[in-house]
This record gives sequence, structure tokens and C-alpha cells, in this order.
Amino acid sequence: MYEEASHSLLNDILNRLKPEISDQDLRHFYTRLGANFYAIHTLFHRLYGERPDFARQMQRLVETMARQYIQRSEQLRRIDIERERDFNWFLSQQWVGMALYSSGFAGTLNGVREHVSYFQELGVNLVHIMPLMQCPEGASDGGYAVSDFRAVDPRVGTLNDLSALATEMRNRDLLLVLDVVLNHTSNEHEWARRARAGDPVYQDYYYTYATRNVPDLFEQSMPEIFPETAPGNFTWDERMRRWVMTVFNEYQWDLNYSNPAVFIEMLDIILHWANQGADILRLDAVAFLWKKMGSTCQNEHEAHLILQLLKDCTQVTAPGVLFIAEAIVAPVEVTKYFGEDAVIAKECEIAYNATFMALLWDSVATKNAKLLRQGIRNLPVKLDRATWLNYIRCHDDIGLGFDDRDIEAAGYAPRDHRKYLLDYFTGRHEGSFARGVPFGQNLKTGDARISGALASLVGLETALAHDDDEAIEDAIKVILLLHGMILSFGGIPLLYYGDELGTLNDDSYLVDPHKSRDTRWVHRPTIDWDKAERRNVPGTIEFRIFVALKRMIAVRKELEVFADFNNREVHEVANPHLFVFERYSLMRHHPSVLVVGNFDPRPQSLDLREVGNWGQFPYGRIVDHFPGQRPDMVHSTLVVPSYGICWLSAKW
Ligand code: GLC
Repeated sequence: MYEEASHSLLNDILNRLKPEISDQDLRHFYTRLGANFYAIHTLFHRLYGERPDFARQMQRLVETMARQYIQRSEQLRRIDIERERDFNWFLSQQWVGMALYSSGFAGTLNGVREHVSYFQELGVNLVHIMPLMQCPEGASDGGYAVSDFRAVDPRVGTLNDLSALATEMRNRDLLLVLDVVLNHTSNEHEWARRARAGDPVYQDYYYTYATRNVPDLFEQSMPEIFPETAPGNFTWDERMRRWVMTVFNEYQWDLNYSNPAVFIEMLDIILHWANQGADILRLDAVAFLWKKMGSTCQNEHEAHLILQLLKDCTQVTAPGVLFIAEAIVAPVEVTKYFGEDAVIAKECEIAYNATFMALLWDSVATKNAKLLRQGIRNLPVKLDRATWLNYIRCHDDIGLGFDDRDIEAAGYAPRDHRKYLLDYFTGRHEGSFARGVPFGQNLKTGDARISGALASLVGLETALAHDDDEAIEDAIKVILLLHGMILSFGGIPLLYYGDELGTLNDDSYLVDPHKSRDTRWVHRPTIDWDKAERRNVPGTIEFRIFVALKRMIAVRKELEVFADFNNREVHEVANPHLFVFERYSLMRHHPSVLVVGNFDPRPQSLDLREVGNWGQFPYGRIVDHFPGQRPDMVHSTLVVPSYGICWLSAKW
């Protein structure tokens, strides 16, 4: 019955759309809409069915999809069809990503275009350009406070520059990833301006309240995201004379998704950027999309419905475009952003693997893999046609969001262990060379996170200051070990710009009043291209890191078992310093790869008889793909060098 009703509704909607679109070839659009309409209607009804204007909003939703389809270029429509056929295309080991700020990387979008060959030199073929939409001059949370979702920030370029870059990238088979900040706008966005001027239509785009009553109730259960710089979750707006929900900074106004007009606006914006040539859209802060009093206002069921609906609508208009979920939440919650109770991804196809990232940092500090193994054992299996984004550093802080039970199972007391990690990475711990900076310290909860560039966190900065060659060598090894991990774990490795050259902390943010209180700026570098040239000069730090990474990336691309088809098994081994997992072939003819990482500064041994049937291979049959040599072995015992990583296969 319901299905029939939704089909007759579809016919009605299409009839009303006809005059506008009669001269278009909409066969693909109609087929996809027909296939997805039941789901779209059900989800939209679940979210907004109670409203008297539901039918009108539903009409607007379909119009939005149709209008954007009409505007989609022939070339992008062709790519959509190719990707529909080869639907697992993004699970391949061929993809290697890098995230960057265009301003820091090369000044402007045109600057990025001039440097595209740099990506290819390294082997990077997926480039995430962090927020490039227009944002206020002063503080803008690194571009995550958007004042115009359809314009490019003039400081980095124009829509034409972006289009030229997208074309250049497509010609070179590089994927473009762009951010869409779904959860909030800047307080200077047109919608916020209108709300401030008293327009009730736009006040309903946000959560605004005349008194403290509702905000006070919300506050009882909502945590603080930026406790030092933006305590609380509401801000008084003098002009509007109302409180407005601002979960992040006080100038970032949370959008009200219980209003279907907001949903439709944001879908339109997603499709707009899809039509500008983005292959993948990173959906920012997705855990926060739905607010419910009495909850933390994170990971609510409705947030998942919104994402499913965004996906289904995008499936109709731009099916080649993938979503990345930026949800830095507990492992059991993260996997739900692929889709709750689903078999294949039905919300976002890709999700940040913040769990693996934080666990890797734990191993760096403790020099063992106890918590890493424990945490990965409890990382839920990802869905089919879904994959992780594996990273070591990004533009944000490192949160120590491990599960307390995992910390205990690894043999530590949770509170003490977190304190140890914080002290270690901020260099307060004896024996630590790390030069991180605390971020988001919450005096009420004792919680804190860590900022810092990869190279500074692993001790390169201190080692250089002390002119300590051995420590320099160690830091480089750790940088390569960590990259070796994200390149082999399963998923898309996402490098962070500058790390491939060993870029250190940059303190220059301290003199900018709009940045000085946000320590994340310490690891958002400006690339010095003269210095980057040293990657061609043997012996330099840049050369040692860049060239080794480039080799590792090339080797990753050769190893088909590194494609992500849930083909990983973590091995429990006696030696606590080693993290050992196997990437096995689902197709017999590709040899498995055994990945062994040593987090200790001393060489460590592993008896391969502990690891499945690896002990049965006679000496000489095992090769290490990365250096491309036979590894050090004594009978069945493998010797893993200090901070070393091996990618082993048996050759017959
Ligand atoms: C995401 C971004 C972060 C930003 C926040 C609010 O977490 O990665 O940089 O501060 O969203 O937009």
C-alpha cells in the first residue's frame, strides 16, 4: 500500500516537473529515482512526515535532485556510469591520499595546480583540499565556519580556478576530495544574518531560544568540544536577542536539521560541489547532525537517517560521488556511519579510522603494541563496499579516545595511562623527545588532547636541536614505520601534507590573535618549496623520508592483497613490541603479505611458527617487499630491526 502511494506520489511530482525538463535526456535520472524513491520517501517521511507541508517539501527535494542532474556535465555523468559498473573501485590498493590546505601547500588553488606533478612524483592520487569555501576574514576555524557555501574563498582563488584544477587532476587520474561542512555555518552566513535581523524563517534554520531555559536543559547532557576557547554549547546573540546553539566555536551556528528546508539546502550544496567535479565529499562533523535534549547530541539515530537520505539522493543525481564520514567517535559508533544494520555501505562509503590513528600513537609512546592489538581486536568489521581512511596526522588534534576497557585489558589504569600519553607527547615525560602541545584541556573532566606535527611528535625537532644523529635516525624510522602501517592496514592511506618532508611544528600562529589560542595551528604548515627541493639531495632529512615513502607507496600499489576486502587477520604473538597482521588473498593466486611492525628502538624477534603456517616456509623463500630483500632470519625466527616494518611474502 505504502509503496503504491509513494509511486503515485512520484508520478505526481514528475508530472509537475515535466515542463521544466522536457527537452532533457533524463533516462538515467528516472531509472535511479525510481530505484531509490521508496527509500527516499520513507526516510524523508520518517524525519519530516508530521509536518503539514510535507508534500511540498518532498516536491522540492525531487526538484533539487532533478535540477542538479540537469546541471551535471556530460563527462561527470559518464564517470557516474563507469563507477556504477565498477562499484568497488575505491577499495583498490591503487589509491593513496594526501590532505592539505591549499593556502599552506601552495598559496592558492592555482598554486596547487602548478604542483600537481608533486603528487604524482610521490605516488599520491587522491587529494583532499581542506575547506575552500568562503569564510570570514578573522577567525574561521580553519575554514570550517563557512559564510558562503557556493563561493570559493577569494584568498585561495575562484570557482574557475577550482574547475581548472579539477580538470587538470582528472586528466591525470587524480581524485579530488572537497569538504562540505554540514553541521554549522559561520555567524556571517546569509542565513545567520537574516536570522539576526529577526527573520523567523531563518531563525528556524538554527537552534535559537529567547531564554536560557532550553539551553540550560541541553547543557546538562552535552559535552564541550572546545572547552578552553569556546566553553558551553550556546552563545547569546545581542543583535537577535536570542541564544543560539554553537557546539564548536561561538561563531559556528549549528544548523537545525529538524527543519526540512535545511536538509534540502544542504543536499543542494552537496550536489553543487559534486557538479564542480569533486569525486569524494568529506562530510564534516557528521556525528553532531541531530540534537536531542537529554543526550550528548552526538551519534543520534536521526543523524544516520539524514546521512542515508543524503546518500540516496546523491545516488540519483551524482552516483559516482562518494562520502567520507568525519566522525571522531568510539569504534562501535564509527562503523555505524557506513550504515546501521546494513551489509554494504548505505551512508558514507569511507570513514576516518581515528581508532587506529590514536592506537598507533599509543604504540609510539609505550614502544609496544599491547593496546594497539587490543583496540584493533575490538574494531568492528567494516561493511562491504566501505573502507577506512587510515591516517597518522591530520589538521586536527590527536584525541585519546580509547575504550577504558581496552586500556585495562592492555594492563594499564585508564586515567594514569592517558596522563602518561599526554605527558609523553608534550615532552614532559623523562626520556621523551616529543614536542607536542596540549589541546582542548578540560579542567572539569581532566580530559586533554594533543597537537603537533608528526616529525615533532616523534622527536625529530628535539633530535635536530641536539644535533643527535642517532635520534634523527630513530625519528625517521618511526615516521616510516607509521606510514608503513597506514599503507598496509586496509583502506585508503591519507598522508598529511608536509609529513612526507619531515616538516616540524610551526609556531608562527602564536602571533596571530585569531589563531593563537588554537594549538592545532602548530601543525598546519606552509610548505617551503625551496626546502622541499632537498628531497632530491641524498643525505638530507627530506630525501631520506620522501624517497623511502615514495618507494613504499609504489610497493603498496603492486600488492593486490592490500586492497580492502576485509582480508586482514591480526596475529597474537608473544613479543609485545610487535604488531603483526596478515593481508591474505581472496583469490588464491596473490601471495599473502605478513606485516610486522616493531615499535621498539631495539631489534625484536618473531618466531614465524607463532604465525599461522608462516613457520613452514624454508629460509630463503621469504622476501621483504619493502626493501625488496630477504629479511634477517635465523631458522624460523625473523629479526625485525629497530622501529622496523616488514611486508613479507613467501615465494615458491
Ligand atoms: C571537524 C574539523 C575540525 C573543525 C570541526 C568543526 O572536526 O575537522 O577542524 O574544527 O569539524 O567544524
